[in-house]
Amino acid sequence: MTIMVRGLSAERSGRTILYPTDLDIKPGERVGLVGASGSGKSTLGHMLIDTLLAQGHSVAHVPQSPDEALDPLRSMRFHWQEAEQALRLPADTDRRMALFEALRIEGGDLSKRPWGWSRGMQQRFVIAMALLGTPDLLVMDEPTSALDPVVAAQMMALLDDYLAGGSTALMLITHDLGLAARRVSRLMVMDAGRVVEDAPSERLLTAPQTQAAQSLCAHRNWMKLPC
Ligand SMILES: Nc1ncnc2c1ncn2[C@@H]1O[C@H](COP(=O)(O)OP(=O)(O)O)[C@@H](O)[C@H]1O
Ligand SMILES: [Mg+2]
Repeated sequence: MTIMVRGLSAERSGRTILYPTDLDIKPGERVGLVGASGSGKSTLGHMLIDTLLAQGHSVAHVPQSPDEALDPLRSMRFHWQEAEQALRLPADTDRRMALFEALRIEGGDLSKRPWGWSRGMQQRFVIAMALLGTPDLLVMDEPTSALDPVVAAQMMALLDDYLAGGSTALMLITHDLGLAARRVSRLMVMDAGRVVEDAPSERLLTAPQTQAAQSLCAHRNWMKLPC
């Protein structure tokens, strides 16, 4: 089902932090939402989730850090069961094993609390929970910033493989244009509460039109210098 929202906007303390924004996302499409810190990416992500839930879509959210999704006092099994119950899914060990295998969640003891697992495995577990109900859209807000770069790259590669060919669309919110460029086919650039550019990744990277996109691209090239 194509995702279609019109006129998403937000105001906080009398200030507009998101100007009216329309979004269309096709099933299985991978979109990167990039922009400087404070440009409104997380606000757009939250507004999108709220609006889609109100429209009856199934949407899942992966926060920046697994700490935001996992209760330190609860076992991993409790979290999994809670996720199944929230989606009104019967307990299904085969489904869990298939997701764990796809995301390489190996040797994790479900009776342990989050701190008994590595950060990388906690984050993959959170992603597995998010994918449980085969959502129409998975929104990930800076999902790699709490992980070391190697673990982060592995996680994104596993997710890529899992989503390939499926109907779940991905919105990857990140300030890291390099990360987004490798994982999405379409890039949206935000600046001061507005989506100022929306283009196929290749085009945006080679011919950015707006100043916001140009400065993100320039920063990325600078990062690639061997120094
Ligand atoms: N609850 C809030 N109250 C006041 N200002 C907010 C609130 N949430 C976000 N903002 C402001 O809105 C702008 C966009 O924030 P955010 O969406 O978090 O940006 P990003 O995710 O791109 O860093 C920022 O200037 C931020 O300070
Ligand atoms: Mg943010």
